[in-house]
Amino acid sequence: MTIRDVLVKDEHVRAAHIEEGWVRLEGKVAIVTGSSSGVGKGIAIGFAREGATVVVTCSHNQAGAREVAAEIERLGCQSLVVQGDVGRKKDAHALINQTQAAFGRLDILVNCAGISLRAPFAEFPEEYWDIIHRTNLKGTFLCSQAAVPLLRQSRGAILNIASINGAITTYNFAAYAASKAGIEGLTRGMAIDLGQYGIRVNALRVGWIAVERDVDLGEEIRQKNAERFPLRRIGEVEDVMGPAVFMCSDDARFVTGAVLPVDGGHSIIFNSGYPQGVVPEGAWDRPEERIR
Ligand SMILES: NC(=O)c1ccc[n+]([C@@H]2O[C@H](COP(=O)([O-])OP(=O)(O)OC[C@H]3O[C@@H](n4cnc5c(N)ncnc54)[C@H](OP(=O)(O)O)[C@@H]3O)[C@@H](O)[C@H]2O)c1
Repeated sequence: MTIRDVLVKDEHVRAAHIEEGWVRLEGKVAIVTGSSSGVGKGIAIGFAREGATVVVTCSHNQAGAREVAAEIERLGCQSLVVQGDVGRKKDAHALINQTQAAFGRLDILVNCAGISLRAPFAEFPEEYWDIIHRTNLKGTFLCSQAAVPLLRQSRGAILNIASINGAITTYNFAAYAASKAGIEGLTRGMAIDLGQYGIRVNALRVGWIAVERDVDLGEEIRQKNAERFPLRRIGEVEDVMGPAVFMCSDDARFVTGAVLPVDGGHSIIFNSGYPQGVVPEGAWDRPEERIR
């Protein structure tokens, strides 16, 4: 069965897309690490909507990974679940080998597996530091390096999931911020070294996306935070799908080493102290006072 045979809830949109030749990842095989939940789950399903075969990965949450794989198959695409720790070289190679054994190729690797642990810097536990860097940064390095031979054959693409915290950050987030800033540097370095093989490497600098762990977030807190975003809302996993598909599709064939913010504009605004960015009347500048 191919994607063309399947009827899904967004069947009208998809039918139109297929009609217009807009299904952008058909025939591609993608790995999305950390796709048992959250942002990675969204990207994996977004890829399947575009016709890709998707390898779903987790470290512990096998039930979540299996659900995502079932959703991908419901969309008419093939899927495989692989469990492992991205921070272990053996597991990174096993992921690539299992993908090759199942599908014979690899076109896209999305390094999304990640973790954030918060604590005040002065008391920040060394083991938190190690877990964060081993997963976020070393995991991206290991999976990407293991994928290079197959991506050379397909002239494929790597997409790293960075964070707004790599650019601006907040209290108790220093180690996570460092790991995500590191991913941006790694993205540029990999893009330079792998360009000669036709492999593109880009990153999404993702802002706050509501995921499963935010389910208990009250409406009041959600609204209060939403006011800090120029687009007046925090993100949903669906907001990451389009940019991820674009970066990994042939539409972005001349884009490499780029870091695309996907954050509702959160990173371009500083806290003016005015609610919802509305400047009170008395705060208007009067030209006669300012221009002499
Ligand atoms: N949500 C946001 O607001 C946001 C914003 C910016 C960036 N991001 C980034 O998006 C990515 C996903 O985050 P999320 O918010 O969607 O969190 P999440 O729902 O907790 O997803 C994390 C994913 O990473 C996997 N994972 C964690 N440690 C791993 C390891 N050592 N080896 C293999 N897989 C591992 C998890 O698998 P298991 O569940 O099986 O452990 C899960 O699939 C992270 O890189 C995060 O930094 C998120």
